[in-house]
Amino acid sequence: MEKLLIEAKNLIKTYGEGEGLTYALNDVSINVYEHDFLVILGGSGSGKSTFLNMLGGIDKVEKGEIIVNGEDIVKYNDKQLTLYRRNTVGFVYQFFNLINDITVYQNVVLAPGSRDKERALALLDRVELKEKKDKFPRQLSGGQQQRVAIARALNKQSDILLCDEPTGALDDASGKAVLKLLEEIHNEGKTIVLVTHTREIAGMANRIITMKNGRVVKEEQNDNIVKAEEVVW
Ligand SMILES: Nc1ncnc2c1ncn2[C@@H]1O[C@H](COP(=O)(O)OP(=O)(O)OP(=O)(O)O)[C@@H](O)[C@H]1O
Ligand SMILES: [Mg+2]
Repeated sequence: MEKLLIEAKNLIKTYGEGEGLTYALNDVSINVYEHDFLVILGGSGSGKSTFLNMLGGIDKVEKGEIIVNGEDIVKYNDKQLTLYRRNTVGFVYQFFNLINDITVYQNVVLAPGSRDKERALALLDRVELKEKKDKFPRQLSGGQQQRVAIARALNKQSDILLCDEPTGALDDASGKAVLKLLEEIHNEGKTIVLVTHTREIAGMANRIITMKNGRVVKEEQNDNIVKAEEVVW
Protein backbone atom coordinates (compact mmCIF):
# COMPACT_ATOMS: atom_id res chain seq x y z
CA MET A 1 0.00 0.00 0.00
CA GLU A 2 1.30 3.44 -0.91
CA LYS A 3 1.84 6.08 1.72
CA LEU A 4 -1.20 8.15 2.69
CA LEU A 5 -0.56 11.76 1.67
CA ILE A 6 -3.93 13.36 2.33
CA GLU A 7 -6.73 12.05 4.50
CA ALA A 8 -9.91 14.10 4.14
CA LYS A 9 -12.45 13.03 6.73
CA ASN A 10 -16.16 13.77 6.96
CA LEU A 11 -16.00 17.12 5.19
CA ILE A 12 -19.07 19.29 5.28
CA LYS A 13 -19.64 22.54 3.46
CA THR A 14 -22.97 24.28 3.09
CA TYR A 15 -24.11 27.41 1.34
CA GLY A 16 -27.19 29.45 2.08
CA GLU A 17 -29.71 28.77 4.81
CA GLY A 18 -33.32 27.72 5.40
CA GLU A 19 -35.03 26.75 2.17
CA GLY A 20 -31.94 27.69 0.19
CA LEU A 21 -29.53 25.51 2.18
CA THR A 22 -27.23 23.51 -0.14
CA TYR A 23 -24.75 20.87 0.91
CA ALA A 24 -21.80 21.43 -1.43
CA LEU A 25 -20.07 18.65 0.54
CA ASN A 26 -22.14 16.29 2.62
CA ASP A 27 -19.84 14.06 4.69
CA VAL A 28 -17.08 13.51 2.15
CA SER A 29 -14.10 11.33 3.07
CA ILE A 30 -11.38 10.79 0.48
CA ASN A 31 -7.81 9.53 0.82
CA VAL A 32 -4.99 10.48 -1.51
CA TYR A 33 -1.99 8.14 -1.64
CA GLU A 34 1.51 8.89 -2.78
CA HIS A 35 1.82 8.52 -6.60
CA ASP A 36 -1.93 8.45 -7.09
CA PHE A 37 -3.38 9.73 -10.29
CA LEU A 38 -6.77 10.19 -8.69
CA VAL A 39 -9.65 11.38 -10.83
CA ILE A 40 -12.78 12.71 -9.16
CA LEU A 41 -15.70 12.46 -11.54
CA GLY A 42 -19.07 14.08 -11.22
CA GLY A 43 -21.64 16.26 -12.91
CA SER A 44 -21.94 20.01 -12.54
CA GLY A 45 -22.63 21.02 -8.95
CA SER A 46 -21.59 17.67 -7.45
CA GLY A 47 -19.01 19.33 -5.19
CA LYS A 48 -15.77 18.59 -7.06
CA SER A 49 -14.32 22.10 -7.03
CA THR A 50 -15.42 22.67 -3.46
CA PHE A 51 -13.54 19.54 -2.42
CA LEU A 52 -10.41 20.40 -4.40
CA ASN A 53 -10.36 23.96 -3.09
CA MET A 54 -10.40 22.58 0.42
CA LEU A 55 -7.46 20.28 -0.28
CA GLY A 56 -5.71 23.31 -1.72
CA GLY A 57 -6.31 25.40 1.38
CA ILE A 58 -8.34 27.87 -0.70
CA ASP A 59 -11.79 27.29 0.79
CA LYS A 60 -12.65 27.11 4.48
CA VAL A 61 -13.93 23.79 5.77
CA GLU A 62 -17.04 23.94 7.92
CA LYS A 63 -16.67 20.55 9.56
CA GLY A 64 -14.24 17.68 9.14
CA GLU A 65 -10.52 17.14 8.99
CA ILE A 66 -7.89 17.24 6.28
CA ILE A 67 -4.75 15.54 7.50
CA VAL A 68 -1.66 16.34 5.45
CA ASN A 69 1.77 15.28 6.69
CA GLY A 70 0.22 14.44 10.03
CA GLU A 71 -1.33 17.89 10.51
CA ASP A 72 -4.95 18.93 10.23
CA ILE A 73 -4.92 21.89 7.82
CA VAL A 74 -8.50 22.73 8.82
CA LYS A 75 -7.04 24.00 12.08
CA TYR A 76 -4.42 26.16 10.37
CA ASN A 77 -4.48 29.92 10.86
CA ASP A 78 -4.14 32.23 7.86
CA LYS A 79 -0.37 32.35 8.04
CA GLN A 80 -0.04 28.57 8.16
CA LEU A 81 -2.49 28.25 5.27
CA THR A 82 -0.50 30.69 3.17
CA LEU A 83 2.62 28.59 3.74
CA TYR A 84 0.69 25.44 2.96
CA ARG A 85 -0.56 26.87 -0.33
CA ARG A 86 2.91 28.06 -1.17
CA ASN A 87 4.81 24.87 -0.39
CA THR A 88 2.63 21.83 -0.33
CA VAL A 89 0.19 21.93 -3.24
CA GLY A 90 0.28 23.12 -6.83
CA PHE A 91 -3.00 24.19 -8.42
CA VAL A 92 -4.13 24.17 -12.06
CA TYR A 93 -7.48 25.77 -12.89
CA GLN A 94 -9.92 25.44 -15.76
CA PHE A 95 -9.40 29.05 -16.82
CA PHE A 96 -5.64 29.12 -16.17
CA ASN A 97 -5.67 32.03 -13.68
CA LEU A 98 -2.51 33.59 -15.07
CA ILE A 99 -1.72 37.20 -14.20
CA ASN A 100 -2.42 39.05 -17.42
CA ASP A 101 -0.26 42.14 -17.11
CA ILE A 102 3.02 40.33 -16.57
CA THR A 103 4.92 38.10 -18.96
CA VAL A 104 4.74 34.36 -19.26
CA TYR A 105 8.17 34.08 -17.65
CA GLN A 106 7.15 36.33 -14.75
CA ASN A 107 4.03 34.26 -14.23
CA VAL A 108 6.16 31.18 -13.73
CA VAL A 109 8.77 32.90 -11.56
CA LEU A 110 6.12 34.58 -9.47
CA ALA A 111 4.75 31.25 -8.40
CA PRO A 112 4.65 31.61 -4.66
CA GLY A 113 7.46 29.53 -3.32
CA SER A 114 9.57 29.59 -6.45
CA ARG A 115 13.17 30.11 -5.47
CA ASP A 116 14.98 29.72 -8.69
CA LYS A 117 14.65 31.80 -11.84
CA GLU A 118 16.71 29.33 -13.86
CA ARG A 119 14.18 26.73 -12.88
CA ALA A 120 11.37 28.85 -14.32
CA LEU A 121 13.13 28.91 -17.69
CA ALA A 122 13.78 25.20 -17.54
CA LEU A 123 10.11 24.59 -16.79
CA LEU A 124 9.01 26.78 -19.69
CA ASP A 125 11.33 24.74 -21.86
CA ARG A 126 9.78 21.63 -20.39
CA VAL A 127 6.29 22.70 -21.46
CA GLU A 128 7.73 23.73 -24.84
CA LEU A 129 7.08 27.42 -24.42
CA LYS A 130 10.51 28.89 -23.80
CA GLU A 131 10.26 30.97 -26.97
CA LYS A 132 7.08 32.58 -25.60
CA LYS A 133 8.65 33.65 -22.33
CA ASP A 134 8.41 37.40 -23.01
CA LYS A 135 4.86 37.31 -24.36
CA PHE A 136 1.85 38.19 -22.26
CA PRO A 137 -0.74 35.50 -21.46
CA ARG A 138 -3.33 37.04 -23.84
CA GLN A 139 -0.88 36.53 -26.72
CA LEU A 140 -1.01 32.77 -26.16
CA SER A 141 -3.62 30.20 -27.08
CA GLY A 142 -5.68 28.58 -24.32
CA GLY A 143 -3.64 25.40 -24.48
CA GLN A 144 -0.40 27.36 -24.25
CA GLN A 145 -1.72 29.35 -21.30
CA GLN A 146 -2.61 26.14 -19.51
CA ARG A 147 0.90 24.81 -20.08
CA VAL A 148 2.26 28.02 -18.53
CA ALA A 149 -0.05 27.48 -15.57
CA ILE A 150 1.31 23.94 -15.20
CA ALA A 151 4.89 25.23 -15.35
CA ARG A 152 3.97 27.72 -12.62
CA ALA A 153 2.47 24.98 -10.47
CA LEU A 154 5.55 22.79 -11.00
CA ASN A 155 7.82 25.60 -9.87
CA LYS A 156 6.51 25.10 -6.37
CA GLN A 157 8.22 21.71 -6.19
CA SER A 158 5.31 20.40 -4.19
CA ASP A 159 4.47 16.70 -4.07
CA ILE A 160 0.85 17.17 -5.02
CA LEU A 161 -0.74 18.75 -8.06
CA LEU A 162 -4.44 19.60 -7.88
CA CYS A 163 -6.15 20.11 -11.24
CA ASP A 164 -9.68 21.46 -11.57
CA GLU A 165 -11.05 20.56 -15.02
CA PRO A 166 -7.70 21.43 -16.65
CA THR A 167 -8.90 20.60 -20.16
CA GLY A 168 -12.37 22.10 -19.73
CA ALA A 169 -11.65 25.26 -21.68
CA LEU A 170 -9.49 23.68 -24.37
CA ASP A 171 -10.01 22.16 -27.81
CA ASP A 172 -9.24 18.45 -28.24
CA ALA A 173 -5.64 18.82 -29.41
CA SER A 174 -4.67 21.29 -26.69
CA GLY A 175 -6.50 19.25 -24.11
CA LYS A 176 -4.60 16.17 -25.15
CA ALA A 177 -1.26 18.01 -24.93
CA VAL A 178 -2.16 19.03 -21.37
CA LEU A 179 -3.13 15.46 -20.46
CA LYS A 180 0.15 14.15 -21.87
CA LEU A 181 2.04 16.66 -19.80
CA LEU A 182 0.16 15.62 -16.67
CA GLU A 183 0.87 11.97 -17.48
CA GLU A 184 4.60 12.70 -17.75
CA ILE A 185 4.58 14.66 -14.53
CA HIS A 186 2.83 11.79 -12.81
CA ASN A 187 5.34 9.29 -14.19
CA GLU A 188 8.12 11.42 -12.74
CA GLY A 189 6.65 10.90 -9.29
CA LYS A 190 4.10 13.64 -8.70
CA THR A 191 0.79 12.82 -7.07
CA ILE A 192 -2.14 14.17 -9.08
CA VAL A 193 -5.74 14.82 -8.11
CA LEU A 194 -7.80 15.82 -11.13
CA VAL A 195 -11.48 16.68 -11.08
CA THR A 196 -13.55 16.53 -14.23
CA HIS A 197 -16.96 15.65 -15.58
CA THR A 198 -15.35 13.88 -18.55
CA ARG A 199 -15.60 10.13 -17.99
CA GLU A 200 -12.98 9.31 -20.64
CA ILE A 201 -10.25 11.20 -18.79
CA ALA A 202 -10.81 8.97 -15.77
CA GLY A 203 -9.27 6.15 -17.84
CA MET A 204 -5.86 7.68 -17.06
CA ALA A 205 -6.36 7.32 -13.32
CA ASN A 206 -5.32 4.48 -11.04
CA ARG A 207 -8.24 5.43 -8.78
CA ILE A 208 -11.59 6.93 -9.71
CA ILE A 209 -14.00 8.49 -7.24
CA THR A 210 -17.45 9.56 -8.33
CA MET A 211 -19.34 12.36 -6.58
CA LYS A 212 -22.99 13.28 -6.73
CA ASN A 213 -24.90 15.92 -4.75
CA GLY A 214 -21.99 16.57 -2.42
CA ARG A 215 -21.35 12.90 -1.65
CA VAL A 216 -18.96 10.18 -2.76
CA VAL A 217 -21.14 7.60 -4.49
CA LYS A 218 -18.50 5.29 -5.96
CA GLU A 219 -14.85 4.46 -5.51
CA GLU A 220 -12.98 2.30 -8.02
CA GLN A 221 -9.49 1.01 -8.70
CA ASN A 222 -8.58 1.16 -12.36
CA ASP A 223 -6.38 -1.70 -13.48
CA ASN A 224 -6.69 -0.79 -17.11
CA ILE A 225 -4.93 2.56 -17.29
CA VAL A 226 -5.27 4.34 -20.61
CA LYS A 227 -2.46 6.48 -21.99
CA ALA A 228 -3.19 10.19 -22.51
CA GLU A 229 -2.45 9.59 -26.19
CA GLU A 230 -5.39 7.19 -26.37
CA VAL A 231 -7.94 9.24 -24.45
CA VAL A 232 -10.75 10.32 -26.76
CA TRP A 233 -13.58 12.60 -25.71
N1 LIG B 1 -19.96 30.52 -3.44
C1 LIG B 1 -21.03 29.73 -3.49
N2 LIG B 1 -22.24 30.17 -3.06
C2 LIG B 1 -23.33 29.39 -3.07
N3 LIG B 1 -23.32 28.12 -3.52
C3 LIG B 1 -22.17 27.62 -3.97
C4 LIG B 1 -20.97 28.39 -3.99
N4 LIG B 1 -19.97 27.61 -4.49
C5 LIG B 1 -20.54 26.43 -4.77
N5 LIG B 1 -21.86 26.42 -4.46
C6 LIG B 1 -22.79 25.29 -4.64
O1 LIG B 1 -22.17 24.13 -4.14
C7 LIG B 1 -22.42 23.02 -4.99
C8 LIG B 1 -21.13 22.39 -5.42
O2 LIG B 1 -20.44 23.30 -6.28
P1 LIG B 1 -19.04 22.95 -6.96
O3 LIG B 1 -18.54 24.18 -7.58
O4 LIG B 1 -18.16 22.28 -5.97
O5 LIG B 1 -19.47 21.89 -8.07
P2 LIG B 1 -18.62 21.22 -9.22
O6 LIG B 1 -18.78 19.74 -9.08
O7 LIG B 1 -17.23 21.75 -9.23
O8 LIG B 1 -19.39 21.65 -10.54
P3 LIG B 1 -18.83 22.06 -12.00
O9 LIG B 1 -18.57 20.76 -12.73
O10 LIG B 1 -19.95 22.81 -12.61
O11 LIG B 1 -17.61 22.89 -11.83
C9 LIG B 1 -23.30 23.54 -6.11
O12 LIG B 1 -24.64 23.25 -5.80
C10 LIG B 1 -23.06 25.02 -6.11
O13 LIG B 1 -24.17 25.71 -6.55
MG1 LIG C 1 -16.12 22.88 -10.59
